[in-house]
Amino acid sequence: MESIQAIKQRFGIIGNNAALNRAIEKAIQVAPTDISVLVTGESGVGKESIPKIIHSLSHRKHGKYIAVNCGAIPEGTIDSELFGHEKGAFTGATQTRNGYFEVADNGTIFLDEVGELPLTTQVRLLRVLENGEFIKVGSSKVQKTNVRIVAATNVNMFEAIKKGKFREDLYYRLSTVEIHLPPLRARKDDIHLLFRKFASDFAMKYKMPSIRLNEEATEMLVKYRWSGNIRQLRNVAEQISVLEENRTVTAEKLRQYLPNNTGNLPAVIEKEKSDSDFSSEREILYKVLFDMKSDLNDLKKLTMELMQHGVSQKVKDENESLIQKIYGDDETEEFFHEEEETTPPVKLLSIPPEVSVMNEEDKYHFAEDVEEEETLSLHDKELELIKKALERNKGKRKAAAKELGISERTLYRKIKQFDL
Ligand SMILES: Nc1ncnc2c1ncn2[C@@H]1O[C@H](COP(=O)(O)OP(=O)(O)OP(=O)(O)O)[C@@H](O)[C@H]1O
Ligand SMILES: [Mg+2]
Repeated sequence: MESIQAIKQRFGIIGNNAALNRAIEKAIQVAPTDISVLVTGESGVGKESIPKIIHSLSHRKHGKYIAVNCGAIPEGTIDSELFGHEKGAFTGATQTRNGYFEVADNGTIFLDEVGELPLTTQVRLLRVLENGEFIKVGSSKVQKTNVRIVAATNVNMFEAIKKGKFREDLYYRLSTVEIHLPPLRARKDDIHLLFRKFASDFAMKYKMPSIRLNEEATEMLVKYRWSGNIRQLRNVAEQISVLEENRTVTAEKLRQYLPNNTGNLPAVIEKEKSDSDFSSEREILYKVLFDMKSDLNDLKKLTMELMQHGVSQKVKDENESLIQKIYGDDETEEFFHEEEETTPPVKLLSIPPEVSVMNEEDKYHFAEDVEEEETLSLHDKELELIKKALERNKGKRKAAAKELGISERTLYRKIKQFDL
């Protein structure tokens, strides 16, 4: 049997907390059986890796693994998605369609947010669980399937049952074994470890030095409530990695990224991010900025390389027009969409050294110019972002800061710095 450590590594799970280890151990133990498993735990605790572990350690590992987010499928189509439909079953059903339970025969289906399933669908699901039978929408033919179900929920199922929103019999069927993932605040021993891991991931992603917390900030990090759990911790690590120039983070700084915890500073981040990495406009902007920075770094490297290995006039012209294109007019949009063009053609690097045209002094100056341009254009972009946000919010700093996802204090500092 694969060890817990090996599983963690394989699935990118960080942490050594005893409750986390127990949850993973339980997943390993139930994997070879066909027992239904219900994964419970608050939002953002990492429930999604449990069904993956179970599937990949089961005899179904060569079968399909389908993850269905029950909360995201409209009520009108969920039966058809899960169980399929016959041609003509409803308007628009121009063809017979196989549902997930047919497609995942001999595999595993992960029903995420299972508490959101409509009652009618719950009846169908119960039948599959009881005897492997299902009927396509608009059909009368009973079909058989052999699917292992792992479900997950972040809501209190007993509440849902009490309110008549979830069938009690289905709940017991689904939760033969329950695997509970503890909230992050109950895994205090793992918080700083996770933060350091995320900080180093984002440092790599954005090609910047890793942020690190000073002692006081570390203490604050560990004491915080983390109601959005690991997802929230990851978001905070990403925001700080992107926004803070000073890579040593103080408690005062960190507090600006933690919503209304200790209460003395305005809440900054209210939004919980979805799984997709860059869901908001602001994040897309930051991504663009940092992609730009890394493109410029590539360009700098290329330039140095060219100067070391020498440059033919033709290549020099080509390069100059490339540089012109990047730094010249402010058409960043276009630049980002034409990545192939900005990637140096391989032939550039195979220029014979004897045609070198630059001396040491040129090299120095050129490199310096590039550096200056880079900070300048980042600076300009930042200025522009702030100006636009202030305009859109009619000069109201609080609203503009909120939109930018920075604290009012930071915005105030920037306004002073840029003399706005
Ligand atoms: N132990 C961990 N180590 C590293 N990353 C983790 C860990 N647990 C969770 N994550 C990361 O945190 C994020 C949230 O995890 P996940 O999507 O599994 O949460 P969830 O429990 O399914 O939440 P929800 O109920 O909101 O769907 C993911 O990006 C995941 O990779
Ligand atoms: Mg989830």
